[in-house]
Amino acid sequence: MEILEQIASEAEKRTQVPAYPRSVEKVISAIMTSNNFWKIVDLSDEPLPLVAEILKLLKEHDLVIFEGNQILLTEAGAELARRLGIEPFVSHKCPTCKGRGVIIDDSLREAYEKFLKIQENRPPAIHQFDQGYVTPENTFARVALADDRGDLRGKKVVVLGDDDLMSIALALSGLPKKVTILEIDERLVNFIKEVSDKYNLNIDARVHDLRQPLPEDVLGAYDTFFTDPPETVEAIKAFVGRGVATLKGPRCAGYFGVTRRESSADKWRRIQRVLIDMGLVITDLIHNFNEYVNWDYYEEMRGWQLTPVKEPPKDIWYRSTQFRVETVRGFEGFNEPIVGDIYNDAESSTT
Ligand SMILES: [Fe+2]
Repeated sequence: MEILEQIASEAEKRTQVPAYPRSVEKVISAIMTSNNFWKIVDLSDEPLPLVAEILKLLKEHDLVIFEGNQILLTEAGAELARRLGIEPFVSHKCPTCKGRGVIIDDSLREAYEKFLKIQENRPPAIHQFDQGYVTPENTFARVALADDRGDLRGKKVVVLGDDDLMSIALALSGLPKKVTILEIDERLVNFIKEVSDKYNLNIDARVHDLRQPLPEDVLGAYDTFFTDPPETVEAIKAFVGRGVATLKGPRCAGYFGVTRRESSADKWRRIQRVLIDMGLVITDLIHNFNEYVNWDYYEEMRGWQLTPVKEPPKDIWYRSTQFRVETVRGFEGFNEPIVGDIYNDAESSTT
């Protein structure tokens, strides 16, 4: 059996994550671009548990060595890459918008500057609620994106789970007619309330455990929702489903991120099918739109146990694709109670 095929099949057997020769090829391309584990996960766009296992297998086959915390191809590894025509990754990302397609321009500048200052005092991300927030620039880029798609001006907007402080950014922009947030973490709700009072933002902020059904008055009442669901198919169905349940009718919009760090292509396909089956059309998929500030609890997450070298992440490595969905006729949300553990599967690594 060809070596890539052999490694993919063994990695899949050990991790239960779908793996292809192409997965191994991408990991090798990533090693040719960077020696850092986190960067290799980032570049390869394969789930962390799978990348970790492929690296271990490449080492078992003497194609890779770990030198201190550096991951390097051996002479045999480099020879294999040459023979198979595997090349390093080359980026052509637009440096102005970082590939997002939108920028924080003059009309948003003043609100953005205010937001930058406000968010300095935010509560830190904690493991208990699986938190990890995006950069402030990223939060505001989402405002720019949603406004660009016509989903904010004069609209009622709801944010389900808000460690990114989307509600503050949205309200500061002055664009939506109303901003509501539901969030389990009291620290965040209190912070958002204080900011709202101080800056007269009129944010409707409530403590709510999203595993429970949404309050009656939120159902069918909004034009646009934002959420950032945990990364299992079940969780995406449940949390995006909650978002959809808040929408007034057809042709309303929803925004959320889904990452390749915790999803194989196979899982993504299942996720997309769940969205389609809910009566949604996926209008936008923007690769690596979201970049998460490294959180302090990385040593507690599953991914840390799996890493073949114990190097703490320094640069941003956890990114997600920004989804924009729209409801069409016959759409249906999900507002049933959520029971059991829907936060973990074989591909997850940050829980
Ligand atoms: Fe650009």
